[in-house]
Amino acid sequence: TVSEHAPNPAAGDPSRPIGFGRIQRKEDPRFVRGRGNYVDDIVLPGMLHGAILRAPVAHARLLSIDASEALAHPKVVAVITGKDLEALNLAWAPTLSADVQAVLVTDKVRFQGQEVAFVVAEDRYAARDALELINVDYEFLPPVIDARKALDDGAPVIRDDLPGRTDNHIFDWEAGDAAETDAIFASADVVVAQELVYPRVHPAPMETCGAVADYDTVDGRLTLYETTQAPHAHRTLYAMVAGIPEHKIRVVSPDIGGGFGNKVGIYPGYILAVVGSIVTGKPVKWVEDRSENLMSTSFARDYIMQGEIAATKEGRILALRTNVLADHGAFNATAQPTKNPAGFFHIFTGSYDLAAAHCKVTGVYTNKAPGGVAYACSFRVTEAVYLVERMVDILARKLEMDPAELRLKNFIKPEQFPYANKTGWVYDSGNYEPAMRLSMEMAGYDELRREQKEKRERGELMGIGISFFTETVGAGPRKHFDIVGLGMADGAELRIHPTGKAVVRISVQSQGQGHETTFAQIVAEELGIPPEDIDVVHGDTDQTPFGLGTYGSRSTPVSGGAVAMVSRKVRDKARFIAAAMLETRAEDLEWEKGRWFVKGDPSAGKTISEIALGAHGTLTLPDGVDGNLDAEVTYDPPNLTFPFGAYICVVDIDPGTGHVKVRRFIAVDDCGTRINPMIIEGQVHGGLTDGVGMALMEMISFDEDGNCLSGSFMDYLIPTAMEVPDWETGFTVTPSPHHPIGAKGIGESATVGSPPAVVNAIVDALAPYGVTHMDMPCTPARVWEAMQGRTRPP
Ligand code: CDP
Repeated sequence: TVSEHAPNPAAGDPSRPIGFGRIQRKEDPRFVRGRGNYVDDIVLPGMLHGAILRAPVAHARLLSIDASEALAHPKVVAVITGKDLEALNLAWAPTLSADVQAVLVTDKVRFQGQEVAFVVAEDRYAARDALELINVDYEFLPPVIDARKALDDGAPVIRDDLPGRTDNHIFDWEAGDAAETDAIFASADVVVAQELVYPRVHPAPMETCGAVADYDTVDGRLTLYETTQAPHAHRTLYAMVAGIPEHKIRVVSPDIGGGFGNKVGIYPGYILAVVGSIVTGKPVKWVEDRSENLMSTSFARDYIMQGEIAATKEGRILALRTNVLADHGAFNATAQPTKNPAGFFHIFTGSYDLAAAHCKVTGVYTNKAPGGVAYACSFRVTEAVYLVERMVDILARKLEMDPAELRLKNFIKPEQFPYANKTGWVYDSGNYEPAMRLSMEMAGYDELRREQKEKRERGELMGIGISFFTETVGAGPRKHFDIVGLGMADGAELRIHPTGKAVVRISVQSQGQGHETTFAQIVAEELGIPPEDIDVVHGDTDQTPFGLGTYGSRSTPVSGGAVAMVSRKVRDKARFIAAAMLETRAEDLEWEKGRWFVKGDPSAGKTISEIALGAHGTLTLPDGVDGNLDAEVTYDPPNLTFPFGAYICVVDIDPGTGHVKVRRFIAVDDCGTRINPMIIEGQVHGGLTDGVGMALMEMISFDEDGNCLSGSFMDYLIPTAMEVPDWETGFTVTPSPHHPIGAKGIGESATVGSPPAVVNAIVDALAPYGVTHMDMPCTPARVWEAMQGRTRPP
């Protein structure tokens, strides 16, 4: 276990620990003073501005484009069309899922908002104005909008660009043992089934996507400032696709205003900015607006899940099975590890010790924006947790059992870890019951149930919803996980300057998670250098080691491991240098945080700072020890980490309007060793807000023609402080046995775990009306509708 407030003896100030603890974020002074440097803040000499003409309909053949009027605009420098890109062999780009995606339409529009042409002009306004001067002829085609109809006989074939394509099927994928699962279902006392729709939602980061491309025509060097969560992966892919040598490409991801999975993929806009810069010989900036972000960049979820759960009448859960229809939009651009077309969905057995499980996922194309990103989750874990946590609640209702009691009865027991579930995962560590009990204690669970009973008697609608989740984060071991063939290990480089100050360069990159603080804290914990003396460099491929980027809460599990290992490498090296300085043998030295000292003689020792100076001094160093205190590592994690949590949500529903008020939310999280509890709480608060948003109001919807009905924040509602309660957070600590510091990821736990808690609470509140399920988002209209025609029992 870890002390939450490890004192800082050097500073004499317990609020400033050396290492893990609640310290203020080092990056905040620049953010709160408005001194962040985002992509749109970048202004280069002679910079031009790009704008994208987008398709007005969901499905249409492109007949012709006439850009002559736009080109005649006095401020327009270039207009790029699909034909121009074809000539450069850049009209199609590979997606992260072995498909291709049109950069600009050459043959057919496949979703509303698709990229049709790119205008480069002297300013943003002229570029936008000129879009209206481009004349495009389309032949409209019937669209496929409903995923359930995508595989119908005679459904229009969306991807006729792919040779031999006669339908809209992408993949079938399964996990678990179907026969074993079916056999258990056939003889189970109780079986309940439910269709669950996880609607299409959008990560909607505060900052939209954008790029500034600067191609130097003299030395062939491309500098690309991008809103990306994965600068190294982008650079490698640009080199592979565009043929620019990799060492001539520099991708910089400066301050990023939220990613949540939205900034993992390579969007046409980024590529168009590069082409625009090559064509004009000037830097080109492209920054999308909110509607473009919501309508054309990666969505998340869009899973239609048929769930079934089998149990004994005493409430022992035996098996779970599901069939899923996954809507991937017009191109399979979902960002998943190669072997996992449905991501980590097969962790859908959750926190329970089951005898069997089976899932099958079928991916289909529709005329909607491509994507399927891990919006604040590790590759489809959100869908998986929603499925199991709703099914367990539905079962509890059927068995007339308390949902907390049912969960407690079926948890994987502490002694079963490492636990191999029925679909191929090995959970590293867990201790579920204490987390569940702590959340119940914090909530005053029994008292809440008593209050609910009284309120029901008065006709008031109060609901209590529980969700207990296990995540699988930290992709991952390179033998199992890659993206387009690139393994998912991360690097770290640590340099201790002669005066003992340090710089650590890491593979991952922050979109607001506070890495500049927490990665410094890992070095501080390992070496005893105060965190304020350690700079964290990230987000620039010229300055950092290769790695696959930040998503799926992988930074702490993978790069965090790398930083701990590199610090230990420095510590080991420091031991030899200290021994030389103290004229003793390395094995006679003992470590305490910040210094090596002679065993049995604590007064004879050298601090890391002294050793750094010694390393760079005139001392004769032992053979094989070079004169610095630097090191580098690549860390390939042996397994993922499996954080977990117990959430309890309390709602009140207005029976007259269907309005849901989230009155309380109790979140107990376990992410193993806690580096910075304040940052963890911030991550949890944000994720819980996301979860309430998805449960109550967020959905990217379409009309039957494929018009996107959620292209602005007037229509795509996101939660504000008004819709959420004061969060009540707690924690338990179950370290990961394989992670160097025992830490698991936390960034996405709350987004993953909270939606089922809210929906379970709403369905619980509506129990007197006989409601057993409701699909998200539980808007007032849907809630009100669910109550209509049903009478409350007296
Ligand atoms: O990959 P991402 O940064 O989004 O997720 P993460 O690894 O879960 O980390 C989110 C933030 O929480 C980072 O600043 C972490 O260093 C911090 N964190 C922590 O303080 N302790 C943990 N056990 C896990 C994360």
